[in-house]
Amino acid sequence: MSAIKTESLIIRGENNVEMQKFVINGGNPLKGDIWVSGAKNSAVAILPAVLLLDVPCIIENVPDISDVKICLKILKGLGADVRPIGDKGDTYWISCKKVSDYYVPYEEAKKMRASYYFLGALLGRCGNAWAAMPGGCPLGARPIDQHLKAFEILGAKQIISDKASDIVELHAEQLQGDVISMDVVSVGATMNAILAAVKAKGTTIIENAAKEPHIVDLANFLNYMGARIKGAGTDTIKIKGVDKLAGNAGEGSAVDYRYPVVPDQIEAGTFMIAAAVTRGDVFIKGVIPKHLEAITAKLRDAGVNVEELEDEDTVHVFVKENVLFQPVNIKTEPYPGFPTDMQPQMAVLLTLADGQSTITENVWEDRFRYVKELAKMSAKIDITQNGALVHGSANLQGADVEACDLRAGAAMIIAGLAANGQTSITDIRHIERGYADIAGKLRGIGADIAKISPEKD
Ligand code: EPU
Repeated sequence: MSAIKTESLIIRGENNVEMQKFVINGGNPLKGDIWVSGAKNSAVAILPAVLLLDVPCIIENVPDISDVKICLKILKGLGADVRPIGDKGDTYWISCKKVSDYYVPYEEAKKMRASYYFLGALLGRCGNAWAAMPGGCPLGARPIDQHLKAFEILGAKQIISDKASDIVELHAEQLQGDVISMDVVSVGATMNAILAAVKAKGTTIIENAAKEPHIVDLANFLNYMGARIKGAGTDTIKIKGVDKLAGNAGEGSAVDYRYPVVPDQIEAGTFMIAAAVTRGDVFIKGVIPKHLEAITAKLRDAGVNVEELEDEDTVHVFVKENVLFQPVNIKTEPYPGFPTDMQPQMAVLLTLADGQSTITENVWEDRFRYVKELAKMSAKIDITQNGALVHGSANLQGADVEACDLRAGAAMIIAGLAANGQTSITDIRHIERGYADIAGKLRGIGADIAKISPEKD
């Protein structure tokens, strides 16, 4: 199979987004250094959180992904002044001084899950919020009852403006701190409760909180700007409400408040598995190795070498010659357990293992759409009651497959890199919601992958 003429095929016709695809010629062992961007699931909460600030700030290490573009569009639509600064394309100066609106445009809210953070941020800012029920990847039922419960406990009333529509409208005369005991461990509900509570009167305690690194990141950002949040990263978070979020130097000071988004642990994990399945030797840079421990542990069990270079913010992933991947059982759980957002990618590695592995999915009820796509590449995976049985020793073959959702799409790329022959992946808009220039980054370590668009008529 001849190599793809990458340059001539990259992105022609912005209007043909839905027709774009990734084409991969598999088999190249990945080698070299690859840099991880800021975390999607952190950036999409920190950007709305800027609405709570009484001073402008600069957010750095913002990933160049479509979910972030939607967040920035919503902020601008609400009246925020958003200016890209620097030459890296990952830094924004944002002032929300002139924001007076609290309506999140319906179409934008529907495009992504994280639009729900505008509810908590707007409620915390002005006591009002209006948004459509959020969109996002099709992973089964994705209720927001815990978010609404948290808002209600803090004193917000939900006004259903039109029962036939899927609008959430919230109003609070005065948000008042209280105890919020979450019925399920939810990343989004925990972050939304923080956003709504940070300027509420009195103290809020969130029990059964999620502990993901992005929750710690949101709390660190808000604390840096003057919030009083303790316990983020544990299951009990205590928030003493403050009147202002104006940084330590206060409103009117000439200080530039700068905050970098934490590295994306899921992007890092995706590159770790890409390195492993191609039997490569890759240094994944700009990471926090501690955040990757659950992924690292399972990769080591599977026979992959992972070295944590803490001082260099790097993990080094390689596979020794003649090593057969071992079967491994995976159970997805909230952090610090094995992340559901790495489950499809890990399944690809397990299709290559020397034996049967089981996957138990405990977070999302419908996270196995990728199985039928991998079957087109000769993978053998049976769906079980709440999981999958992966039969190893597959000889993956290139095929035409679809990115059913963001992480399923990442799994297709990994499978394409490991497969014999050519793989073509459609519906890549899902992938681009969460991975910044994934084809360019992988090409930098030797992958033969191109993003192509059909010619415009
Ligand atoms: N849940 C409820 N009620 C709620 C909220 C959640 O029952 O009000 C349930 C969900 O149905 C699910 C579980 O609780 O079974 C966990 O959901 P969670 O709220 O933690 O998920 P989320 O906040 O909607 C975020 C990420 C997802 C990631 C999950 C789990 C964002 C924008 N999304 O979703 O990321 O899978 O946490 O870690 O942060 C992805 O990046 O590909 C992705 C899907």
